[in-house]
Amino acid sequence: MSSPRSTVILGTGSYAPARVLTNAELALTIDTSDEWIRTRSGILERHIAAPGEQASDMAVHAAQRAIADAKLTLADIDLLIVATITPDLPMPATACIIQHKLGLSTATACFDLNAACSGFIYALDTACAMIGSGRYRHALVIGVEKLSAIVDWSDRTTCVLFGDGAGAAVIGASDQPNIGLIGTKLGAYGDCVDMLFIPGGGSNAPATTASLVNRDHFIKMKGKEVFKYAVRGMEEAARDILEQHSIPANQIALVIPHQANLRIIEAIAQYLELPMERFFVNLDRYGNTSAASIPIALDEARRSGRIKSGDLTLLVAFGAGLTYGSALLRW
Ligand code: UT7
Repeated sequence: MSSPRSTVILGTGSYAPARVLTNAELALTIDTSDEWIRTRSGILERHIAAPGEQASDMAVHAAQRAIADAKLTLADIDLLIVATITPDLPMPATACIIQHKLGLSTATACFDLNAACSGFIYALDTACAMIGSGRYRHALVIGVEKLSAIVDWSDRTTCVLFGDGAGAAVIGASDQPNIGLIGTKLGAYGDCVDMLFIPGGGSNAPATTASLVNRDHFIKMKGKEVFKYAVRGMEEAARDILEQHSIPANQIALVIPHQANLRIIEAIAQYLELPMERFFVNLDRYGNTSAASIPIALDEARRSGRIKSGDLTLLVAFGAGLTYGSALLRW
């Protein structure tokens, strides 16, 4: 029996809208301060989509950069997976909209995946399994969010944390053994749905005048509880995957964590007994971009020379669901 093919990241790309919203600007409209946001989260500013700029538009920019980086053409892509909680429309999948805007073949398989901030790792695992099966040649995996459309700009406990953006990766197969995706660990605390959710607008509670007045179509979050589960989920996901592959933490050249809160990242660094220099952090400039957070960070890490051939990289995330996940990559 032939062994499964290695699945590798051939290229990455990212995009952030031009408009930058600083903490100081937020403090002009709600009861907050640059000092509170900076010290409680590490965030200094975030990007906000322009009026009329859709999640699919941001995704197209990131995708074009990833395909160019992979030195491939649109014709090489036959699978498109889009991780997002902010689709352009409730239906159909934003992947279908992106297929058309990008100019991909209608023979490209297209679907969205909702695992919130862990979405890129879930999508990466799915794409690698589909490529590894030999039934697809190249996958485009996109994490994109327009969170500015679903945060309540009058709720200071959430609106200061989130931002918009997109990140993409092109996945292909390689005959070289032991490179690319080494493994993943995915999971979810499904008993914690109401810690981070949007109560209105789904089939359980379709939008009504009352639900709009009640602001049920915006993100609701129990920040303190989510914080605890975030640390627990990311620690478990990191520990399990390292144990599973018998890799000591100090062999990881770079950890690319979900960019939600600097204090959460510092807790994971302490748990893994790794210095903060081994962690890629860009949340100061982006805030939390949910499914886009890891692919934007991955693209910046690659382009700034933080990832070298032979390096082991650990991706680790948590998000609404509450989902969590980790992925181990060798370059
Ligand atoms: O991708 C998953 C997304 N979710 C997360 O990552 C959330 C994880 N949780 C967190 O990052 C943190 O819990 C927060 C940053 C959300 C909050 O930090 P905290 O240290 O847990 O603060 P807190 O919620 O306990 O709030 C402390 C105080 C409260 O005032 P009182 O009750 O002590 O008087 C809040 O009302 O800070 C107040 N507060 C604010 N003050 C100024 C909450 N938000 C703000 C704000 N500006 N924006």
